[in-house]
Amino acid sequence: MHAKAEEDLFYPQLLALGTGEGGKASPEDETTDAIHDHNEIRDALADVEGHAPGSSGWWSAVAKVNEVNGDHMAEEEREGLTDFRRHASLDLRHNLAVAFYAYEAAHAGGIKSHDVDPEEYVKQNEDPAAGPGR
Ligand SMILES: [Fe+2]
Ligand SMILES: [Fe+2]
Repeated sequence: MHAKAEEDLFYPQLLALGTGEGGKASPEDETTDAIHDHNEIRDALADVEGHAPGSSGWWSAVAKVNEVNGDHMAEEEREGLTDFRRHASLDLRHNLAVAFYAYEAAHAGGIKSHDVDPEEYVKQNEDPAAGPGR
């Protein structure tokens, strides 16, 4: 749900305002990498469900989720989130935070998640006025 909220609310705004940060040359690069990572996290989470809780396979699958999620969060903080903080107004940051909490509350029961093609996502969300979630 966190990744989907970011894809609906945050990354279209980053594509509009970002300039590249933390080693990435552009917001398109930051976003493509983030969507790829979100897919990895979704896939790793789905793998956990195939194992009996507490089994060695389950622990391995949980460790994989921890690894891919940790890698993603470190990169996202360094790249897209820093890029956005440096270029978005306080009002936009505030409004996005409120929208994020509203999204999480509206979907508290969970969502159906699916992988997203990173290049296709960037193409469809380059114009934040035309993308989803606004
Ligand atoms: Fe993310
Ligand atoms: Fe995140």
